[in-house]
Amino acid sequence: MYSLTVSSPTDIPWNELREQARHATTTSYAPYSHVLVGACAITVDGSFVVGANVENASYGLTLCAECSLVSDLARQGGGRLLAVSIVAGDGEPMAPCGRCRQLLFEHGGNDLLVDAGADVEPTPLRELLPGAFGPEDLGLRRSE
Ligand code: THU
Repeated sequence: MYSLTVSSPTDIPWNELREQARHATTTSYAPYSHVLVGACAITVDGSFVVGANVENASYGLTLCAECSLVSDLARQGGGRLLAVSIVAGDGEPMAPCGRCRQLLFEHGGNDLLVDAGADVEPTPLRELLPGAFGPEDLGLRRSE
């Protein structure tokens, strides 16, 4: 793994993110759905983090690729996510599921850019998860 300096959103290495996400699909464990998913994000510090889905015989316990990516982020010492590409086994970007939008929000917030494809503008997470509940809401809503 290496890191890269990204000084503006136009510097985001989308091809690299997509390629690493595609590579991550080769590490998916998806014997039940046969849907391979890989994810790669870059942090504001220019570090890459990756993930792949890991299914379970108890289907509801499946870990999405984004869960695995967030674990990788924590394991590397944390950081703020700037941009993410999530791809399926066909190599094309796919939409994150509802739970993973929330997971990504925790670590990237409204401005996190989500890959929508090579010829399309990336989608800010605020458009995928409008009015999100986040860490600051806990402080605002606590009773004591
Ligand atoms: N999956 C992900 O990894 N991320 C998503 O955002 C949507 C779904 C996985 C979970 C499961 O292993 C497979 O795709 C089919 O739902």
